Amino acid sequence: MKILAIETSCDETSIALLECSGGLNNPTYTTLRHSLNSQINLHREYGGVYPTLAKREHSKNILPLLVEVLDREGVNNSNKLSEAQISKISHILERQSDLLTQFLKIIPNISIPEINAIAVTTGPGLAPALWVGVNFAQALAYAWNKKLIPINHMEGHIFSVLIHKKENFQFPIIALLISGGHTQLVLVKNWGEYEIIGETRDDAVGEAFDKVARMLDLPYPGGPEISRLASQSRNKSKLSNSKSHTNSKKQIQDTKLPRPMLNTDDLDFSFSGLKTAVLYSIKGRTLSDEEKKEIAREFEDAVTEILIKKTKKALIQYGAPTLVVGGGVIANTHIREALIELSKDLNITLHLPQSDLTGDNAIMIGVAGYIHTQLPHPVDIAPEDIRAESNQRLN
Ligand code: KG4
Ligand code: ZN
Repeated sequence: MKILAIETSCDETSIALLECSGGLNNPTYTTLRHSLNSQINLHREYGGVYPTLAKREHSKNILPLLVEVLDREGVNNSNKLSEAQISKISHILERQSDLLTQFLKIIPNISIPEINAIAVTTGPGLAPALWVGVNFAQALAYAWNKKLIPINHMEGHIFSVLIHKKENFQFPIIALLISGGHTQLVLVKNWGEYEIIGETRDDAVGEAFDKVARMLDLPYPGGPEISRLASQSRNKSKLSNSKSHTNSKKQIQDTKLPRPMLNTDDLDFSFSGLKTAVLYSIKGRTLSDEEKKEIAREFEDAVTEILIKKTKKALIQYGAPTLVVGGGVIANTHIREALIELSKDLNITLHLPQSDLTGDNAIMIGVAGYIHTQLPHPVDIAPEDIRAESNQRLN
């Protein structure tokens, strides 16, 4: 089965074409084509993602990306649209006049691809960004007469680990989802059956990385920057540790940060207090590069300790043999290593996404789309009834 997938929830426009088979018991996927346009350089100026700009960029790039993805499917064939199709598509894309003009010019010159369905991210995310993908997918569904499958972005992050896995997954699975907008522990009872068992009460972990980075005058997105400084600090203290013990010990004591909610009975998180503690610790000071590295390291240590403790608690509480981790923050090497340690400690199976699939991408949305077609009661909804929802929840 071939699935075309579209993702525009934040600052990446991504389209993928997947070949999927094997059903729920033995799903296998091949990425036939994948195109992605990242807007990170544009948003860096604003220190975060600027929704109106994100919408404009998605709108500008989505059709060229589709043409790239369908390259081998035969561009320059004629697929004349009927009056009824044109009227429907014009209505769907009425708020995106430039995209509509391009759509009506280009799509009739592309032969209808041999796909079984289109999967599109409907939320959570930035509403103006999500709507571009949703409206574009709706227009394609009518132009090509294809089924449209709405996909939750967080579900996509869970499926990002499935792409290169050969073995079966043992349920229940605990999914730790750590991104710029979310921090959640999800109980996956079976494919398509989710329960959020813990989540952040304030900032998401990626958001905390980004905000702390800004305090340290580091560019957006802050996660990779903090991680780079933290590992430099660790390497340095390893070196000086071998020379003098007292020196490195003193450095750590200087910037001890709190671990909010570390010992609470629930599976929830809170990162805003940690962020504020960083703010207080640097207030009125001009930081040297060494001090920035030390703060980055202590911040990363604090986040890691909290994530590991709550994930461990969830795994034990639900007797789960499998841990899956998804979302942009799992690009972080220190957190990855700590999770590998945890999995050994508890003797459970850990699945992490490949490094090129940690961020937002349409491949994971296509995988989730395929799994949805295989469920006993797949969602059956007319394309025009699909809505983007910025706060869409998994369960
Ligand atoms: O999943 P994602 O690409 O987008 C959302 O759906 O939010 O996650 C983006 C987040 C950003 O906050 C970014 O700073 C963070 O992931 N991130 C990292 C690292 N790489 C990206 N955080 C910590 N360490 C990293 N190496
Ligand atoms: Zn994401």
